[in-house]
Amino acid sequence: AVAVRHHMKNSAKWGKALEILEELEENCATSTWKLKQIADAMTVEMHAGLASEGGSKLKMLITYVDNLPTGEEKGVFYALDLGGTNFRVMRVHFGEAEEQIVNEEVHTSIPLHLMVGTSDALFDFIASTLAKFVAEEGEDVHLPAGRQRELGFTFSFPVKQLSIASGTLIKWTKGFSIEDAIGQDIVGELTKALERIGLDMRVTALVNDTVGTLARAHYDNPDVVAAVILGTGTNAAYVERANAIPKWQDLLPNSGEMVINMEWGNFRSSHLPLTEYDESLNAESLNPGEQIFEKMISGMYLGEIVRIILLRMAEEAAFFGDTVPPKLRTPFILRSPDMSAMHHDDSSDLKVVDSKLRDVLEIPNSSLKIRKVMVKLCDIVASRGARLSAAGTVGILKKLGRDKSRKEGEKQTSVIAIDGALFEHYTKFRQCFEGTLEELLGDVYETISVVQSHDGSGIGAALLAASYSQYIGLEES
Ligand code: GLC
Repeated sequence: AVAVRHHMKNSAKWGKALEILEELEENCATSTWKLKQIADAMTVEMHAGLASEGGSKLKMLITYVDNLPTGEEKGVFYALDLGGTNFRVMRVHFGEAEEQIVNEEVHTSIPLHLMVGTSDALFDFIASTLAKFVAEEGEDVHLPAGRQRELGFTFSFPVKQLSIASGTLIKWTKGFSIEDAIGQDIVGELTKALERIGLDMRVTALVNDTVGTLARAHYDNPDVVAAVILGTGTNAAYVERANAIPKWQDLLPNSGEMVINMEWGNFRSSHLPLTEYDESLNAESLNPGEQIFEKMISGMYLGEIVRIILLRMAEEAAFFGDTVPPKLRTPFILRSPDMSAMHHDDSSDLKVVDSKLRDVLEIPNSSLKIRKVMVKLCDIVASRGARLSAAGTVGILKKLGRDKSRKEGEKQTSVIAIDGALFEHYTKFRQCFEGTLEELLGDVYETISVVQSHDGSGIGAALLAASYSQYIGLEES
């Protein structure tokens, strides 16, 4: 009798767990129709954000990049890439034909306390990493005599640019929160830190990672119209006609074009399939109420959404037995690489899922049933993110009038450059993103090409430093 009761109690719990899962699946659903509404809403918000300052949740930031690299750039330039989980310093040599780009780099992760400390502490860390990099340069690296080192600074947060090489921080996003940097000129902050450490270098371009990625891809291919980042955060930039930017009062650039940093992570629409789990994630985040689109899509948050769902299943359906595994209560313990590993597990007994449950969440001896639910959960959450980002991309194509078939004989290719770990390493995410683009665009999908702009954000910044160099036009020695 005890065994029977035990069995019934267990199956009731199992039923409750499945109920939570089903409800989740329903609430995360992204039908083609819904995604089209979202793409339309993105286009509408783009117009509104271009019309007036503060006209939309989309900031649609002017980048002062009015010319993209052409492949003619030459010389040695540096790049700093700050914005996600890693911080990189690069030296890039742009040369002739075959050996076009040669780069050397160091990676470090930003210590957590610096992400929420003071502006000086962060920039001193950056400056010292840069100084070390320069100090270790070999004999073979030499700049023309008397020439200052020039730097492209990829700073992947919303910045109100004042020129190509200056701009003030609007707010932090992702894992950063450093109060005293808000409203400061980021290049000024870096320059002061460089002076403190005695390093002679100047910033000639301050760019967002989306803009760097766009620049990098454009160097190889002039048909590149937009760039999307799918990494720790998510965002997009694209090339807009300058006269389609009513809020831009300055002189029209000669090119007639301006790159816009959309800051689409902050997009919001009543069509978004938000769930109670997104609400909890948002409430507990560093920036409640902000970056809602980003929190449904990007690498910093996907694993955390899964954790929050699991916690509810553990609490309300005893999914992992009678006690709630304590690790499940630790925010951000489940990272998207773990989630990706579980999602791609194709072994018949799902041993990768088992090992992740063990190693990350300290849940030993999971049943196969439980592991299957884990894979399903990852699938629901990742697919929703991938499909939403595809809808956003279609929104950009719509804004550019590139979402329709052209007249017969007319050729038009739209290349979209993508970078970020989620796109690069999470295969199912990438496949779902591409599949959804096709689903939404139909025949037009044939005119679209999605390319990965590997290391785009860093190399792109160096390229822009080259294009906007004060030495431009001077003879390279
Ligand atoms: C966040 C930042 C944005 C950046 C994106 C990807 O959304 O606000 O500037 O481009 O992350 O790194």
